[in-house]
Amino acid sequence: MPTLVASRPATPAAPDRITPAAAATGTWTVILDPPHREQDNEGRIALAEGDREAGFLLFIDCADDSVWIDTIRVVPGLRGNGLGTRLLTLALDLHPGRTIGLAAPTAALAAWYGRFGFVPAGPDGVLRRTAPR
Ligand SMILES: CC(C)(COP(=O)(O)OP(=O)(O)OC[C@H]1O[C@@H](n2cnc3c(N)ncnc32)[C@H](O)[C@@H]1OP(=O)(O)O)[C@@H](O)C(=O)NCCC(=O)NCCS
Repeated sequence: MPTLVASRPATPAAPDRITPAAAATGTWTVILDPPHREQDNEGRIALAEGDREAGFLLFIDCADDSVWIDTIRVVPGLRGNGLGTRLLTLALDLHPGRTIGLAAPTAALAAWYGRFGFVPAGPDGVLRRTAPR
């Protein structure tokens, strides 16, 4: 299981410094920067190994109590090892009971998000996930 810590983001990883095998099996630190409502409403979740960051997800804590996932990104050389799935799962687990929206730029990504319960909810690839009851 990853370790959950709250700290500043690690340095972005050079893909060649984390092997795909390590990405698949490594023990990742989850770095959580929660939104600071008095400053902004944007939070960040990252997966890191030591000071090397493999991917991150940005989310916005919206005024209507929903959450908007703004970006999810894994270092190119590490994609396809389940890290994106881990980031998205962490974001969902962090917001129980909340409606979550995002925009899928491609049909393939929309299908991937669909596995997590996201359904089409508007133009421009907007998808929404209502929290399971
Ligand atoms: C989308 C993204 C975050 C997924 O991260 P990931 O670590 O590859 O995710 P996973 O390994 O959990 O794989 C999830 C799915 O991504 C797709 N995928 C797998 N390998 C991939 C690769 N090398 N490149 C792109 N997509 C890939 C597959 O549909 C995969 O599902 P499956 O293998 O179970 O059928 C990552 O590809 C990325 O950073 N893309 C560029 C940024 C982007 O488009 N972000 C989304 C919109 S903001």
